[in-house]
Amino acid sequence: MDSTQHISDATILPPRVEKNVSLQQYNTFRFDYQAEFFALVEDLMTLKSLVGWAKQHNICVTMLGGGSNLLISADIPGLVIINRLRGCHAKEESGNRISLIVGAGENWHEMVEFTVQNHWFGVENLALIPGTAGAAPVQNIGAYGVEVKDSLARVQVLDRQTLDVYWVNAQDCGFAYRDSHFKGLWKDKYFITAIELSLKKRADLLLSYGGLANQIEGEPSLKKVFQAVCQVRSSKLPDPNVLANAGSFFKNPMVSTTQHNQLKESFPSLVSFPHGNEFKLAAGWLIDQAGWKGKTQQGVGVYEKQALVLVNHQAIKAEPLLELEANIKANVFNLYGVELEREPVQLPVLSQKELSGMLSEESQT
Ligand code: EPU
Repeated sequence: MDSTQHISDATILPPRVEKNVSLQQYNTFRFDYQAEFFALVEDLMTLKSLVGWAKQHNICVTMLGGGSNLLISADIPGLVIINRLRGCHAKEESGNRISLIVGAGENWHEMVEFTVQNHWFGVENLALIPGTAGAAPVQNIGAYGVEVKDSLARVQVLDRQTLDVYWVNAQDCGFAYRDSHFKGLWKDKYFITAIELSLKKRADLLLSYGGLANQIEGEPSLKKVFQAVCQVRSSKLPDPNVLANAGSFFKNPMVSTTQHNQLKESFPSLVSFPHGNEFKLAAGWLIDQAGWKGKTQQGVGVYEKQALVLVNHQAIKAEPLLELEANIKANVFNLYGVELEREPVQLPVLSQKELSGMLSEESQT
């Protein structure tokens, strides 16, 4: 069923809404699919009125931030909103605490740089992660032993049904490794409009992950950690402005201690980290050892310096990447008995309603 069945050609689109717009510059894989309706939104009032308009016409709405953790694999029906809600306001909370409220459309890395310039601790290890501030809680971005949940106080949301805007406490957001309710339970319920970070004026630096300590000469400082993270990331990960990619394409899989020990026996150089009662395996190692690093096929490939990152050299559509993904997953499963899970979000997503609509249409034919 077409999501926009109630929109006739004669319907006047609200100001700023365009039809059939290419999303190539709005996703870092640079796949060329279209949004049926498209709007770039810079203020909350406009966002509310557009979501209200879409609701009135029974049009589904998809919100994008920086498009850096996305796999678009078909044209997106309905309205695609690019979130460009800006603003960054700091408030001193107590002797050691700073509250920083950041518009969801702000660039994450620029925001991290701003906190470092102001000598506020908390997100320095998350430097150079592509994307927007509002996307950070969705997959609970993480790097070098730190996750955004560690510094997040609240998330401001727009309720898609009621159009109310309110704050949700971070502890209620279901944060886990690369996961949150915004990806699952609340996927169709909220749009994120701002975040509130709780930063510190004094804190310990975390240098124990990913060889950060080796990058720092002399006494570590906030600025040196920030620079070291930028240096390590740029040496290992491709800049999406130069080579299209969406960061880690797979999550690091979790396995039981028994499975881990069996694997370690067969593959003594296996890279793994204890994680609660389980073990987290370095998916990059699994893929690398399976021989995929640097391989290319049909214009897409596995990045030559980090096997966890899939890159798009020249494909226009997502099929070659989906094929590469399927090949890697099957090969890794055959070799190690480990199921890899994709990290980026795939769009378009069919809602439960649309799915059941399709099913009932099928059953009628
Ligand atoms: N490794 C290989 N070959 C490779 C890649 C990795 O053998 O091609 C092994 C190495 O032994 C390496 C280990 O795997 O020491 C871990 O690799 P790395 O330090 O690069 O980290 P990762 O586990 O592959 C995770 C995050 C990254 C984050 C880094 C640093 C996930 C899915 N990825 O990668 O996040 O930057 O740690 O903290 O958890 C992202 O999410 O987009 C992302 C880049």
